[in-house]
Amino acid sequence: MDPREELKELIVQAREHLLYFSELGLTSIGERSAPVEAESKVEAQASPVAPEPRPQESPASTIIPPPQFVPKPTITMPTKKENTAETSLFDEPSLFGETVAPMAGLQSVNETLEDIRRDLGDCRRCKLWSTRTNIVFGEGNPKAELMFIGEGPGADEDATGRPFVGRAGQLLTKMIEAIDLKREDVYIANVVKSRPPGNRTPESDEVKACIPFLFRQIAAIRPKLIVALGNPAMQALLDTKIGITKMRGHFQDYPRMPEIKVMPTFHPAYLLRSPDKKREAWEDLKKVRAFLRGEIAPE
Ligand code: URA
Repeated sequence: MDPREELKELIVQAREHLLYFSELGLTSIGERSAPVEAESKVEAQASPVAPEPRPQESPASTIIPPPQFVPKPTITMPTKKENTAETSLFDEPSLFGETVAPMAGLQSVNETLEDIRRDLGDCRRCKLWSTRTNIVFGEGNPKAELMFIGEGPGADEDATGRPFVGRAGQLLTKMIEAIDLKREDVYIANVVKSRPPGNRTPESDEVKACIPFLFRQIAAIRPKLIVALGNPAMQALLDTKIGITKMRGHFQDYPRMPEIKVMPTFHPAYLLRSPDKKREAWEDLKKVRAFLRGEIAPE
């Protein structure tokens, strides 16, 4: 292979490897993530990562070999889903590629929402920092069975630092109450945590910079079901380019943790503009309620 190509490949591999560690909650090589909490939902025995043997003390004269490159485990994508590399949200490479990243079935990570918020800090990982007022991290029950994910903060959210508090948020609150839950029962977050100027759709570099934090929030909460509100949320969560009109109302597996289901439905801001679509959204929400009550299985 051309040495330049080989070098490029090595850089890609090293970057992926570092991303993998960062998604596992490690902030530096050799450092462990937050200590295990008693009430944690972690099932250590199901960890996909084998415990590392303690390194042997070496005499000063011994040459210590460089750390081994451990390839990422790969898990095959569920076949029933259409979110393949060709239909990825991002032109290349797919967020998940043809295999699910090792976050799938991630029971070994034990970080809390507070850990994730701390790591996010005063984020400047994408250009949105320069126009935002407040980061909108997300709020709600850290042990929620149900999460709602929107696209990104609007003006009211930017001003208050809270998700879904404007007109669309008021409709979302009504949607939650319509299925006999309260806002405090669920967890509400967005794909991007800083407001895109003029409420434009988040750009792919912004989504790529921010979404690891959402993935980590999902892994920390481990809901039974995520309601993806609108195209950007659904496409980012399912790594697909298929539109919401086709996907809404159909349960999907969340590719990173397929035991978590995703119900795509219309965004409340869209429902405010197109009230005739509320009937379909209500059909979707009834499925959400029935699933949470154990009355139906995801088809
Ligand atoms: N729209 C979103 O997608 N998220 C919010 O938090 C508010 C409006």
